[in-house]
Amino acid sequence: MVCGNFGGLWFDVFLIVCVVRTCTCLTFKYHNNSELEQVLKNFTNTTTNIKTRLENIGNSFNRIPLWAIELTAAEENTLGVPNIKLIGNIHGNEAVGREIILNFMEYLRTEYDRNTTIQWLLNNTRMHFLPTMNPDGFAVSHEGMCSGEYGRNNGKQGDVEDLNRNFPDFFHDNKIPRQPETVAVMRWMDRIPFILSAGLHGGAVVANYPFDTVKEESWKTLLRRIEKARNSQEEYRLRLHYLASKPINPPSLTPDDDVFRHLATVYANNHLTMHKGVICDNGKKFKGGITNGAAWYPFSGGMQDFNYAKHGCMELTLEISCCKFPRASELPHLWEENKMALLRYVMEAHRGVTGQLLDSVTNLPVSKANLQIYGRNMTFHPTKNGEFWRLLLPGEYQIQVDAPGYYSTLQGFTVRNFSADQLPSLTKLKILLLNSTIPTTPKAETPPSSTPTIGRDLRETTAEEGQTTTLLEFNLLGHFQRSADSKSEYSKGLKPDIFSCFLSMIIIEIFLFVVL
Ligand SMILES: *[C@@H]1O[C@H](CO)[C@@H](O)[C@H](O)[C@H]1NC(C)=O
Ligand SMILES: *[C@@H]1O[C@H](CO)[C@@H](O)[C@H](O)[C@H]1NC(C)=O
Ligand SMILES: *[C@@H]1O[C@H](CO)[C@@H](O)[C@H](O)[C@H]1NC(C)=O
Ligand SMILES: *[C@@H]1O[C@H](CO)[C@@H](O)[C@H](O)[C@H]1NC(C)=O
Ligand SMILES: *[C@@H]1O[C@H](CO)[C@@H](O)[C@H](O)[C@H]1NC(C)=O
Ligand SMILES: *[C@@H]1O[C@H](CO)[C@@H](O)[C@H](O)[C@H]1NC(C)=O
Ligand SMILES: [Zn+2]
Repeated sequence: MVCGNFGGLWFDVFLIVCVVRTCTCLTFKYHNNSELEQVLKNFTNTTTNIKTRLENIGNSFNRIPLWAIELTAAEENTLGVPNIKLIGNIHGNEAVGREIILNFMEYLRTEYDRNTTIQWLLNNTRMHFLPTMNPDGFAVSHEGMCSGEYGRNNGKQGDVEDLNRNFPDFFHDNKIPRQPETVAVMRWMDRIPFILSAGLHGGAVVANYPFDTVKEESWKTLLRRIEKARNSQEEYRLRLHYLASKPINPPSLTPDDDVFRHLATVYANNHLTMHKGVICDNGKKFKGGITNGAAWYPFSGGMQDFNYAKHGCMELTLEISCCKFPRASELPHLWEENKMALLRYVMEAHRGVTGQLLDSVTNLPVSKANLQIYGRNMTFHPTKNGEFWRLLLPGEYQIQVDAPGYYSTLQGFTVRNFSADQLPSLTKLKILLLNSTIPTTPKAETPPSSTPTIGRDLRETTAEEGQTTTLLEFNLLGHFQRSADSKSEYSKGLKPDIFSCFLSMIIIEIFLFVVL
């Protein structure tokens, strides 16, 4: 709070302005649900330097509004601006995240005017915050209750459903009735193409990354019992039972494990204590302060897995205090511990690739496509404007685009490294897709060879460069997998072009047969 070296009257005026500002700033206390609403409304009313948008994204089981707020200094309709989100208090009795998010918002708006890094971040990112996803559970929870499951779930007694078991699962069918809070967050995610996210929890100090869910059959049996139990006490007991029978859980890793480990490490290393491996009560010591979810304890229906597998949004589960609902007097130091970690974490939204899919003739965005980074078996999709993002570590990559009505395209790109004192910057691509339904002379449509592989038809590259054959096989394989998967919740709305896929496979087989 340096107000400047002003003397006399001016100094007093500035001092008063400063003091008044700090006073209307947040006090370190737990805001109850109506106070939280007030704080968010006051925040939007009193913020002039950056844009804010407060929105009720749905209501809880007890019909308490779920307030989400957006902070950005980017222009309304600018393309290529990544969206990030932070969600607090998904478990009602894990309350620290609520207040950490409010403090982070306050920090961003104050620092915007005096720190060019924060200014750059807000100028180039849309940040969304949902301080509480479970106002019901919070309302029945008690300050000072460090452990236990009371108030964890939603509903009148905070005992209806565990919201972090309530999302569609990547490997299993989730039969637990979908709760209004979950529906609200899923709808929110349908509307906004989030690419980086975190859910804030308590009860441990660790950055946890996907998957939480495991493919394994034996686990399925247990899941069914948990589903039947539908009660966190019982789940807790079953989970402990599972852990006892199987003391070392194998990790359940995503194809983007390198990125997730990096993100978790960024958080842990910038947190004042997490990276040291904080042991809570008789809990586990996490090396480097990070863990794969399933390696800690597996469960299905978690929010982070859903974010990643359904929306291509990299989400971590951040456990930020041993005590689930510590005394408010603990909040200042909890905020200090997490401040830099949150800032460095959200900056990671600018590491990787972004781009837009365009029709090579009309130049209009192509919004229906399956995208994959070559070698990473996880499909993602463009936005309605044909935009896409993928967080990636420095290196050489290829992106595969399969859009109905267009030739498959594979485009290479580089993600650069950034030193600690540099601002990160996304690699930007424009991918022109060649319409496969309009009959054309392929040669005429091929871009000049000086252009780096933009919109190139795979079938042509196969003829020229033997090396791409494997890529095409991968492509076809991808098609078949997707069509085989199409019953799952994740592929809903995808209409795999089986016929054309089959046809091109036969052509390739004939080609290979003749050549080899
Ligand atoms: C929140 O606390 C205020 C007092 O600070 C009280 O008047 C109000 O009823 C409380 N609201 C809820 C929803 O608990
Ligand atoms: C919000 O602003 C109103 C009116 O300015 C004020 O009465 C109220 O105390 C403020 N609430 C909080 C939580 O800051
Ligand atoms: C914020 O501003 C709106 C519109 O000016 C007003 O209706 C609302 O009462 C204000 N809220 C607070 C908490 O100051
Ligand atoms: C801006 O904030 C970041 C993060 O707190 C810090 O590392 C940097 O030194 C600050 N820059 C200036 C110019 O104050
Ligand atoms: C952020 O945007 C504002 C308004 O366009 C501009 O004046 C400012 O220079 C930008 N700051 C940075 C660090 O890019
Ligand atoms: C890709 O992932 C899906 C779903 O996990 C799996 O069924 C399939 O076997 C994987 N394909 C390859 C080529 O690894
Ligand atoms: Zn939790």
